[in-house]
Amino acid sequence: MSRTPLIAGNWKMNGTIEEAEERVASLLPRIATVEHADVAVCVPFTALQAVVDSTRGSQLGVYAQNMHHEPSGAFTGEVSAPMLTEIDVHGVVLGHSERRQFFGETDKALQLKVPAALEAGLIPILCVGETEDERENGDTERRLRHQVQEGLEKVPAERLGEVVLAYEPIWAIGTGQVATPEQAQDALAFVRALVADRSKEEAEKSRILYGGSMKPGNAAELLALPDCDGGLIGGASLDIEDFVAIVEAAKG
Ligand code: 13P
Repeated sequence: MSRTPLIAGNWKMNGTIEEAEERVASLLPRIATVEHADVAVCVPFTALQAVVDSTRGSQLGVYAQNMHHEPSGAFTGEVSAPMLTEIDVHGVVLGHSERRQFFGETDKALQLKVPAALEAGLIPILCVGETEDERENGDTERRLRHQVQEGLEKVPAERLGEVVLAYEPIWAIGTGQVATPEQAQDALAFVRALVADRSKEEAEKSRILYGGSMKPGNAAELLALPDCDGGLIGGASLDIEDFVAIVEAAKG
């Protein structure tokens, strides 16, 4: 099964609307002829509409960085899936470790968010990953099993392949300390095996990304791993030259 790699830039909480528009204006011509990968940017809520408008008709995917599972209601400060699809957003990052760590995002909440995103027509990117302590204590697989099983629990088996998973070891995020190819491949293959426990066929379709200090210098090696179907890129996605170099590295 050949899976089209996805290279997604997670801009996190960075930039004004004007800066977002400038960034995509520089990015679009650089990826106009890319056929080997899907390319996306995960944009702060305030800049989503502007980025959707300025990328219409292009091949750049536009993703949000979070959403609530309910379509509407008394949830002050939250944004729902239909609010994102109303402005033609394509997908949404769910369960990023920064949301788990700083904003109390739970596996239980993700269990509702992932199917809600799919039902609304958004592509979910479900993030999973262990802390440094968990890795040192040999708890990596237990942590990943819990996060993947809970996050996908309410997704119908025949739709599992539509969920993008991102393995992001927390100790590698924003630290410059990248997982070794062996560590990354082991974890990515383990995540795919967890999807295969529900459906072997869908697990072959699942795109599983690596995230955590992916840079132009290490991207090719990581993206060539048998179970690596792309990258979720933080810091390096804010620099167009670096981001484009990572897109190129997905060519293999
Ligand atoms: P860095 O690439 O800055 O390590 O961030 C990774 C990440 O959190 C992407 O979601």
